[in-house]
Amino acid sequence: MSTAATPLAEQPASATTSARAAVIGAGLMGHGIAQVLAGAGVEVRVYDLDEAARESVRERVADNLRSLGGDPAIVRRIAPAQSLADAARDADWVFEAVAEKLELKQELFRALDDAAPAAAVLATNTSVMSVTEIASRASGRHRIVGTHWWNPPYLMPLVEVVQTAETDPAVVAATISFLTGLGKTAVHVKRDVPGFVGNRLQHALWREAFNLIDAGVCDPETVDAVIRAGFGMRLGVMGPIETADLIGLDLTLDIHEYILPRLDPPSAPAPGLRARVAQGRLGMKSGEGYESWTPERARERREHLRRELARITGAARS
Ligand SMILES: NC(=O)c1ccc[n+]([C@@H]2O[C@H](COP(=O)([O-])OP(=O)(O)OC[C@H]3O[C@@H](n4cnc5c(N)ncnc54)[C@H](O)[C@@H]3O)[C@@H](O)[C@H]2O)c1
Repeated sequence: MSTAATPLAEQPASATTSARAAVIGAGLMGHGIAQVLAGAGVEVRVYDLDEAARESVRERVADNLRSLGGDPAIVRRIAPAQSLADAARDADWVFEAVAEKLELKQELFRALDDAAPAAAVLATNTSVMSVTEIASRASGRHRIVGTHWWNPPYLMPLVEVVQTAETDPAVVAATISFLTGLGKTAVHVKRDVPGFVGNRLQHALWREAFNLIDAGVCDPETVDAVIRAGFGMRLGVMGPIETADLIGLDLTLDIHEYILPRLDPPSAPAPGLRARVAQGRLGMKSGEGYESWTPERARERREHLRRELARITGAARS
């Protein structure tokens, strides 16, 4: 790390239990993030501008835990803080989860320059905004990273860890390690693009869904039925990249050549897809596509898909 090394950078995931964190913003996401942290043994101080939000945070976490059969006693590790400085003073990690307003987040990260210890990692939970822009008024930009949690944070495994051009790679590595130690599926987003990976994919789907409804192609209920009974069911078992490798990139390219110019807005097949097909990297059947495949691994993934779909649909029993 270039400046003010993060004490957690070199530590194993089990170091979560000795960590201290601040959560700024105690709304839907903030209280859920505090719950995950406290559940892993982290001492958490939570600040919210709104007194009712910060004073009710322990109660809301305890309610969640009761309804899920968890241990409400972990709320003893969560304490409301009366100011930003009070929350961040001793923190190793600061998770910002205030409203999705650029100016507000920019000012907050500027204030954290002084409010948080020099070695603390500062993370924003923005859903779609540029982390670079959010960090632009702060001087310690090397320690600012995106951590995009999904709602509800205590049930959804994914956290996207977003690296800006200014984030120290050691901060990214430490953040992934820390979140993995919390039991999260922490993935590395290597470039700071609006919407990161998850929301770019999700909103591309929504754009097409809303356009289909507007064009009178189907009812809103049909969109949901198509996804839930169709490819959405499969997506939970096998991701789209693996699926493309399974069906073959040559077929995927043929489909894209026809359909992408007809979508709204029109586009063309990805250069990387064309290049793979030109090189004979066609997916599972050729041993390589977007991923590398041994015959055993390809067979195992096909079998996994069949088994899981049978389990989900109940076909295995009939
Ligand atoms: N809701 C979701 O599904 C979801 C999912 C992922 C990420 N996010 C992101 O998480 C962030 C928070 O979203 P949310 O849904 O929890 O919002 P929310 O409205 O439930 O909570 C935001 C909280 O921030 C507080 N706040 C506002 N200004 C503040 C300040 N200056 N200092 C301290 N607290 C302040 C508010 O009082 C409020 O309690 C946003 O950036 C949002 O885009 C939301």
